[in-house]
Amino acid sequence: MNKIKTNLNRIFSTELARVTERAAVAAARHAGRGNEKAADQAAVDAMRSELNALDIKGTVVIGEGERDEAPMLYIGEEVGTGNGPEVDIALDPLEGTTLCAKGMPNSLAVLAMSVGGGMLHAPDTYMDKIAIGPGYNNNVIDLDASPEENIISLAKEKGVPPSEITVCILDRPRHSKHIEGARKCGASVHLITAGDVAGIIATTNSLKTNIDIYMGIGGAPEGVLAAAALRCTGGQMQGRLVISNKDEESRALKMGNNDLNKKYDLLELASGDVFFAATGVTEGSMLEGVRFENNYITTETVIMRSTTGTVRWIKTQHTLLDKFK
Ligand code: FBP
Repeated sequence: MNKIKTNLNRIFSTELARVTERAAVAAARHAGRGNEKAADQAAVDAMRSELNALDIKGTVVIGEGERDEAPMLYIGEEVGTGNGPEVDIALDPLEGTTLCAKGMPNSLAVLAMSVGGGMLHAPDTYMDKIAIGPGYNNNVIDLDASPEENIISLAKEKGVPPSEITVCILDRPRHSKHIEGARKCGASVHLITAGDVAGIIATTNSLKTNIDIYMGIGGAPEGVLAAAALRCTGGQMQGRLVISNKDEESRALKMGNNDLNKKYDLLELASGDVFFAATGVTEGSMLEGVRFENNYITTETVIMRSTTGTVRWIKTQHTLLDKFK
């Protein structure tokens, strides 16, 4: 029985690649064309149709919004054929919509699946986040410490001066204190215009990306997706919802987030047996973007699983079947 369950779960790894690949290709057809809505809708349609072909009894827990405001892949939507294990799905068919529409790097099609629950049902609000990659002792970072304190603590742990630490931060006025604090202690600041899922995942391979730590406020759903990836690769992360009005407060409460000031750690953001899949839409630091050749399309996807810690990089050549046209 256990054996069957294990094999079934392993098969999901490759099945999930199909889902993000198809969403990425659909979105990439709109890359650089300035139409965010069209790019997002194409990714949503493609992801939904591929998800519905999977033998799962899936429920979207992080999606494109709530039922009344999102035509598809809304929170609570059931996906899959219904013949298979009960799973929770967190998704962002096009993470970095603006990046894609402007033809800029690092837009992704992203999905996380947890067998047996475990992903935080985060509302569509902001979340304050801090993350580092694997290989450090626990408690090196703390969301309640200042940016300087976190950088100095990480530098000590890494055995380098703070000037050798690079911090990834979303380029927003709300982060002026983070940027100022990081520069004050000598760290280098890598500003991104959007796409903090990629920004957080970048900390897990600092040799390649040169990013040691991510900090700042971005989307809460993106926080859960990034946490799912960190659960698989190792790393540390904390997040706290940022609730700015009564409407957000009631939506958060409705989704079961009873303590609005709670500082969530990685295991509270994403626990259980978690799978994570991402396919590059536009070129990125982590993944190549979709390339359209004369007779085929290429994609690059990363698939991870928390239970085994396996990380697979899949380059796929798609023939121009109907669904990829
Ligand atoms: P979208 O894919 O919805 O455009 O989100 C992109 C993103 O940059 C996220 O990666 C990030 O968490 C969030 O938006 C930041 O929000 P804002 O642009 O409002 O600062």
